[in-house]
Amino acid sequence: MRNIVPILTDWRFRREDVGLPESFPEDWEPMTLPHTWNAVDGMAGGGYYRGVCWYARTFEAPVQPLPGGRVYLEFLGAGNEATVYVNGKEVCHHKGGYSAFRCDVTDALNGGANLLAVACNNAEKTGIYPQSADFTFYGGLYRAVNLISVPEAHFDLDYFGGPGVRVTPKRAVGGALFAATAFPKNVTEQYRVTYTVFDPENGEAVGFASRPALAPEVEIFVPDAKLWSIDAPHLYDVAVRLELANETVDEVTVSVGVRDFSVDPQKGFFLNGVSTPLRGVCRHQDRLYKGNALTEDDHFEDAALIKEIGANTVRLAHYQHAQEFYELCDTLGLVVWAEIPFISVFDPSPEAHENCVSQLTELIVQNYHHPSICFWGISNEILIGGISEQLVENHRALVSLAKELDPTRLTTLAHVSMTPTDGPMHTLTDVESYNIYFGWYGGRMEDNGPWLDAFHEKQPNVCLGVSEYGCEGILTYHSAHPACKDYSEEYQALYHEHMAQVFEDRPWIWATHVWNMFDFGSAVRDEGGVKGRNNKGLVTIDRNTKKDAFYVYQAFWSKEPMVHIAGKRYAERAGETTQIRVYSNAGFVRLTVNGQFFAKRRGHRVFVFDDVPLRPGLNQIVAEGDGVKDTAALTRVEQEPEHYTLPQVRAQQEGVKNWFTLVGDLDLKAPMSFPKGKWSVRDKVSDIAECPEAFAVLKKATLAMSGAELSPESGMWGFIKNQTVENMIAMGGGSMPEGFLESINAQLTEIDKP
Ligand code: GCU
Repeated sequence: MRNIVPILTDWRFRREDVGLPESFPEDWEPMTLPHTWNAVDGMAGGGYYRGVCWYARTFEAPVQPLPGGRVYLEFLGAGNEATVYVNGKEVCHHKGGYSAFRCDVTDALNGGANLLAVACNNAEKTGIYPQSADFTFYGGLYRAVNLISVPEAHFDLDYFGGPGVRVTPKRAVGGALFAATAFPKNVTEQYRVTYTVFDPENGEAVGFASRPALAPEVEIFVPDAKLWSIDAPHLYDVAVRLELANETVDEVTVSVGVRDFSVDPQKGFFLNGVSTPLRGVCRHQDRLYKGNALTEDDHFEDAALIKEIGANTVRLAHYQHAQEFYELCDTLGLVVWAEIPFISVFDPSPEAHENCVSQLTELIVQNYHHPSICFWGISNEILIGGISEQLVENHRALVSLAKELDPTRLTTLAHVSMTPTDGPMHTLTDVESYNIYFGWYGGRMEDNGPWLDAFHEKQPNVCLGVSEYGCEGILTYHSAHPACKDYSEEYQALYHEHMAQVFEDRPWIWATHVWNMFDFGSAVRDEGGVKGRNNKGLVTIDRNTKKDAFYVYQAFWSKEPMVHIAGKRYAERAGETTQIRVYSNAGFVRLTVNGQFFAKRRGHRVFVFDDVPLRPGLNQIVAEGDGVKDTAALTRVEQEPEHYTLPQVRAQQEGVKNWFTLVGDLDLKAPMSFPKGKWSVRDKVSDIAECPEAFAVLKKATLAMSGAELSPESGMWGFIKNQTVENMIAMGGGSMPEGFLESINAQLTEIDKP
């Protein structure tokens, strides 16, 4: 029989490329798996160690009772590239940091203790995805390693880390048909494959079939089969056995679910024939000072939080996640978008395409059985560097590969926001999604709905989803006047209030995924005064704090009665009155202030109470809806703490105030004009830069806007120079007051073009 032994303890580790050890390196650092060497520097900001590090361990060769058995090492995740040596001999090499792989080490073994050494490498390298992206590429053996031994006849272990069997359930009249096959190795006509379908709820066998191992394909009818759904995620275990006479030689069990689904461009997503708009979140897997070296409990906590918010879908971005996590989605009932890290930067080298092919093959072969997965994601924002014929062609090849490996699921991709609404990137995949960030990187949050409607009207046959949207929320910053790019918890919540409604009003959008459920490590970032992190999470990177925006979605999505008072961390407030926002799925919310009834409001998810009186010192606020209560303690102060505002935002607010005194009494209400021969905000930044007088206006304006003067020497110049002033202001100054753009235009139109 098959024997699987995890080897997690008694490793040795070196955080440098010391080369292959000749004997067990006692003096290296003792190590237990899972492990990454970037747990701290990967989320500290600035550089993090990217290169080769070494792991070593000894192991006894497992003994099979009969001759001819094989021994494998199985690695469930090694970032980003790994070379495995047994007793000094290279046994395998794997490219890609997120999928499992196995090496047949039988021929490298000796009788006693065997020396295993693994070189992991997360250095920048062409030919392996991800090339470049907004997250840290943690290096190391960050998932389990298993030692597997099998008899000579066994289910295949060599095919892209897959299980060696395949079971595809499908709904049928009066029950379900389980199409099953197996890939046995080294068998003769005496061998049989048997399939037993178990209902795990009561352990009963509900279906059985036996086939010759040389022709193992079969269909098993299970009468009255229960469906897998979001609210009742019913699973079946299928035990597949390889048998010889009265002996089981090898056995593999897979969990599957019976369900069907479809997407309609006008009606959205259907699960088992029921309209089910998918509303949920994206997940990055890493955690504070653990990086991606996670325990089962960590995965469970994440999945439980995603259920708690009331989501019915999760996009597992931007790479293959741990097996445990897909299993949790199966058992808890979440529809999954799974994807490969074909992201941000297109690498035209043939090896890079090969790497996409192997990562996609591994993703599908290794995760084929999860009923939670309905979508294979091909790429993310791959048009950032522009489009090419080769890029489109490679997409076509990946889509047909996905279809060949798995005709039962749909393919998808995540467009970068500036992807033109028509052109060759559309209808490549079965369904599509955009990452849209109006209200954060550019534009206003109110632009999202109209943009989606316009796309839908123009492309009525495209199934459109929103694969990412979000904004930063940092728990230090608070404001009574939240504005785009102020990083406050309040702006993040306000933005998501708006977005949740936009999507509730548009059930034809097949799926929407918040970016992101959790803050995550991104070494390249330095935003909002926090280095090395992306703070767009609804929950903090340590999973300890649910931001207010979390409760916005809970109010919109969850069926559990809930009431949440927002702004509890905005605890010190100036002024005699304040605004209280309450998120709830109740029809009415009552507010009590210091024991006195204040008001009762009818509402839909968001309940706003204005002019709530605060007495000096501490105030107790209680909100109640459908019998559920929440409470907040707010202190009225003379002056709100300075640290509530990010210094850069304070500088910007000051700058803007001064700007209006600087520009004097221009009529900012007058509609903008664009006279011929004069400069205006419709001109390109690089053209204006050629005229010193006009450029001076722009420099003053950007100084007011951001606290930094615009200059061709700045790092952002390449990004800005080809934009019009209008665009640049929209992108960089989401919170600019009314009249700001008009005032720049009024000054520019005073100046002649050469
Ligand atoms: C992108 C990208 C993410 C990134 C996010 C952001 O669209 O796909 O990987 O983290 O935007 O800027 O926060």
